[in-house]
Amino acid sequence: MISNSFKTNELANYRLSIAPMMDCTDRHFRVLMRQITKRSLLYTEMIVAQALHYSNNRNKLLDFDEIEHPISIQLGGDNPNLLAEAAKMAEDWGYDEINLNVGCPSPKVKSGNFGACLMGKPKIVAKCIENMKKSCNIPITVKHRLGIDNLDNDDYLIKFVDTCAIAGANRFIVHARKAWLNGLNPKENRTIPPLQYERVEKLKNKRPELLIELNGGINTINDCIKTLKIFDGAMVGRAAYTHPFIWTNIDPMIFGETQDYQSRSKIIKKIIPFAQKNLENNGRLWDISKHVLNLIENIPNAKAFRKELSEKCQNSKADVSILKNIAQQLEDAGH
Ligand SMILES: Cc1cc2nc3c(=O)[nH]c(=O)nc-3n(C[C@H](O)[C@H](O)[C@H](O)COP(=O)(O)O)c2cc1C
Repeated sequence: MISNSFKTNELANYRLSIAPMMDCTDRHFRVLMRQITKRSLLYTEMIVAQALHYSNNRNKLLDFDEIEHPISIQLGGDNPNLLAEAAKMAEDWGYDEINLNVGCPSPKVKSGNFGACLMGKPKIVAKCIENMKKSCNIPITVKHRLGIDNLDNDDYLIKFVDTCAIAGANRFIVHARKAWLNGLNPKENRTIPPLQYERVEKLKNKRPELLIELNGGINTINDCIKTLKIFDGAMVGRAAYTHPFIWTNIDPMIFGETQDYQSRSKIIKKIIPFAQKNLENNGRLWDISKHVLNLIENIPNAKAFRKELSEKCQNSKADVSILKNIAQQLEDAGH
């Protein structure tokens, strides 16, 4: 029995989370997602602890808007001291949680000895967790795979999780497939190794006292509801990024919250002040509009709307009048 046990909170934000995704879950996408769900836990893209240490522009790496809470920062790294320093910075910056990336198989991450290859070095992961726990008071979670290469069996997985739990990890997010570190690129590592939910379920059954979340191939709110019958949380990645509008009922259906009627035009109108603020900070309209594109699907003329948005917003001088205009057109068309 692991001494470090936590009680499941039925309404905890981690019941549904939007996965960390490089080049997708930037602060602009998170602001958009926040108009769709107030309760879900949002993750940053991975931020490398070493980059934070040497950066002379930490604001750029760490800044987020107050409305993004609850928000978890995902850190990458294998140096316990640098990770402890990064954890402290993240806590001071106001993040709600810290997540350690032990699931990314990209060659670049592997060459830095972190990400998924750390599944082969549980003692180092434990030391990283211990140091992070010592340096801050917010939860430290671990996102990992079922296994890597030939380290891919249930006993190894349980031992890995036990080692992290003893070190103080508060929750585990298991991407329910293994990763091949040689031979598959990151995209292939998200599709070719089969999803094996039953193995994550076995882990949860063997360690009922630990908080275990399922990730991988969860595509609808109904999938989440099914997931939550077994696991403590459901993490959604690609389906949330590519089809944000199908998630508008998360708050009522997963968290039991009441919610006003949501429409695409309302969501776009709500992000306009954030787009304006970004322009005032020398950003571009495209920063947020590129994520808005995915909101416009499954309606008549979606392709034409997306074309207009994409062409006009990519102009470096584009201002929020373009978003206002698109929102009005969508509203007039009943969306
Ligand atoms: C474009 C992209 C970037 C990703 N970047 C990260 C990352 O930075 N950190 C991480 O832990 N996982 C990353 N992932 C993996 C996702 O978090 C998630 O584990 C994976 O997509 C499986 O979930 P899904 O089937 O719901 O998409 C990324 C996935 C995609 C598609």
